[in-house]
Amino acid sequence: MTAVLHALVVEDDKNALAALAELVADEGFAVETAASVRTARARLVTRTPDVVLLDLILPDGTGFDLIQDFQGQTDRVEIVVITGHASVSTAVEALRHGASDYLTKPVDAVRLKLMLANLARTRELRPRLSELLRQVPQLGRFGRLVGASPAMEQVYDLVSRVAPSSASVLVTGESGTGKELVAENLHLLSRRVSKPYVVVNCGALSPTLIESELFGHERGSFTGADRVHRGYFERADGGTLFLDEVSELPLELQAKLLRVLEAGAVTRVGGEKMVRVDVRIIAATNRDLDARVAEGKFRGDLLYRLKVFPIELPPLRVRTEDIATLAHHFLGEFNRKEGTDKSFAPAAVSILQACDWPGNVRELKNAIHRAFILAEKEIGTSHLAPELSGQRSAALPSSLTTLAEAERRLIFATLEHFDGDKRETAEALGVSLRTLYNRLRQYGPQ
Ligand SMILES: Nc1ncnc2c1ncn2[C@@H]1O[C@H](COP(=O)(O)OP(=O)(O)OP(=O)(O)O)[C@@H](O)[C@H]1O
Ligand SMILES: [Mg+2]
Repeated sequence: MTAVLHALVVEDDKNALAALAELVADEGFAVETAASVRTARARLVTRTPDVVLLDLILPDGTGFDLIQDFQGQTDRVEIVVITGHASVSTAVEALRHGASDYLTKPVDAVRLKLMLANLARTRELRPRLSELLRQVPQLGRFGRLVGASPAMEQVYDLVSRVAPSSASVLVTGESGTGKELVAENLHLLSRRVSKPYVVVNCGALSPTLIESELFGHERGSFTGADRVHRGYFERADGGTLFLDEVSELPLELQAKLLRVLEAGAVTRVGGEKMVRVDVRIIAATNRDLDARVAEGKFRGDLLYRLKVFPIELPPLRVRTEDIATLAHHFLGEFNRKEGTDKSFAPAAVSILQACDWPGNVRELKNAIHRAFILAEKEIGTSHLAPELSGQRSAALPSSLTTLAEAERRLIFATLEHFDGDKRETAEALGVSLRTLYNRLRQYGPQ
């Protein structure tokens, strides 16, 4: 048997207060109400509730004053703020201050019920998140995200605040900074972890099929639609939908997406009925979306919706203290996969640390993969791609023969590693298949 959970509803509009209190009571909570900051404080003296539904604008102060009162208790008390449609940014402010979620007015009964039903799971998450955060300096990582630089600690802090909520998150940052990994971690650290995590690369969808891919279609809605198709939204129901490269969505689709986000329901192509979906949206882009809005290529209202909680990933060059940690992490991964025990010569790590990494963590990972393939036992400076050491003045003598020879060895070693699979080889080397063929021709069959 579970103990009765207590809720405090704070709202100055009498009708809204009564309606909310009833909804919460229907879910089995013991409910207390307050119409002002003062009354709410009086209620809090007698009992600390498990959940507080909090209107932000109150006659004698703001909901923020009450959130302040809960400083240090947010592990135990779930604060859900209620905000006008036009003030999502204040909701975000509240999340930053320790609220766990928000609802927009008029409060959607289904969303509120879902939130309350999930409260128990959300509460279990908090201590786990605090523990993960506490361990960062010692473990050098947060979940699957490796690195303990101050810049990344800030990211982890944001991730842990927003993960348990249902707020939309927009992850930005240069290519290769780990946006996809952050999105995945947000899902893993949310109460939705046992539900689907659906990844959609908006840049890779065919423009003609994109609408039915996202929202599904009814049977017979177009030639070839011979059965009902559930789109990504429906497949992600209860879980998380990751819209990667969201800047690439065509404008008319952006309008449809916005409608779906506002309604919390999709209409399949060729259909009429609305299918309700409970989906948490995470979007990512390496483009400047504000600039795209200014150019008329991205809808401002959609950006506003997606950007409820922005997380910007710092480029690797501003967190050089993470380079060695990441390098050892990747080497460990490759070692485990191949059953080897290769290590770094200290000079190789120094070269890695001195690089600029315009391709960020992805580039570092690829560089280590190449070196790993080339090295017998210890990864030395000679196993690193010449252009990396070329950034340092005292690096390898870079006569053309050395470069060509290094490249030749690299290509053949990689090819051997992938059992002659040219596609995988090209991918690992970060070149096109065509470039690989050209090089193979140039270096001849050996
Ligand atoms: N902090 C990190 N810890 C461990 N691995 C990381 C980290 N950041 C990135 N990676 C790894 O680097 C690679 C690139 O990361 P990811 O795909 O998330 O980049 P991205 O920001 O989505 O890039 P793009 O904009 O090009 O899509 C992946 O293999 C990812 O696992
Ligand atoms: Mg990506």
